[in-house]
Amino acid sequence: MTAGAGADETQSGRSGFRTAVVPAAGLGTRFLPATKTVPKELLPVVDTPGIELVAAEAAESGADRLVIVTSPGKDGVVAHFVEDLVLESTLAERGKFHLLEKVRKAPGLLNVSSVVQEEPLGLGHAVAQAEAVLDPGEDAIAVLLPDDLVLPCGVLEEMGRVRREHGGTVLCAIDVPKDEVSAYGVFDVAPVDGGADPNVLRVNGMVEKPAMADAPSTYAAAGRYLLDRAVFDALRRIEPGAGGELQLTDAIGLLIADGHPVHVVVHRGSRHDLGNPGGYLRAAVDFALERDEYGPALREWLTRRLAPDWNPQLTTS
Ligand code: G1P
Repeated sequence: MTAGAGADETQSGRSGFRTAVVPAAGLGTRFLPATKTVPKELLPVVDTPGIELVAAEAAESGADRLVIVTSPGKDGVVAHFVEDLVLESTLAERGKFHLLEKVRKAPGLLNVSSVVQEEPLGLGHAVAQAEAVLDPGEDAIAVLLPDDLVLPCGVLEEMGRVRREHGGTVLCAIDVPKDEVSAYGVFDVAPVDGGADPNVLRVNGMVEKPAMADAPSTYAAAGRYLLDRAVFDALRRIEPGAGGELQLTDAIGLLIADGHPVHVVVHRGSRHDLGNPGGYLRAAVDFALERDEYGPALREWLTRRLAPDWNPQLTTS
């Protein structure tokens, strides 16, 4: 690494940002009744809350600060990142060092703070709340939606590289089936002039949750954003959009209209949507299958469970 890159890293992290914003103010209605008392972001993917996975991704990409946007009553999300000295000393006394390492992981990832979104006015409004805690020198932030697991990790570093090359704002896109576009923010894209990488595209427009017939492409926003600080000015100018909410997508649309460069990195790996029980279960199974302690038995049971001759009366496990 060059001395210049080192200096830049101190200022803004190796991917060009030091603050990662995680909007976690939603009601989690799709997970009721569980989310009556447990924030959706704390539901475990095997044994680790989804928001810890996302925080680890932010830390790996070079962020040193996580700003969680919560809503009144969702303090538990931030508490997960606070050291629990009583629990830690109990585990140490009992010699449970493996568990101790697990509970120490979240508080050790990066500095965590929170801002409160008092009213559920939309993702754009949630992200706008983070401006108040940024340092004057920060010219970009990352936003990671905790519903989205983008795997393998590393797309934010790639987005940082694209921002270094093209400036402006860089988002992550996934290519989704046409009949799913209306669940997403969808990009109107064009090749980059003279661009060598087919997975980096220029964004000419963006529309939130379009009808299938109106979607400009099948490239959808996948919950990872590297936003130039100019986004906060755009967020002050947006009006309620899709679903009557203040949409981040519309602020990005304004940036494009202002002539600000916006690009996407098309992610060709896998992605899980933790925002609904079906997607969450898939993620849990996927992660469990990779774990030495659960994977083999789960694989064996799933194989039996999915066999045409499955008979629940013949098994108890
Ligand atoms: C949000 C964004 C949308 C994006 C999606 C990705 O929608 O508004 O643009 O494509 O996340 O998961 P939500 O799923 O919160 O309705």
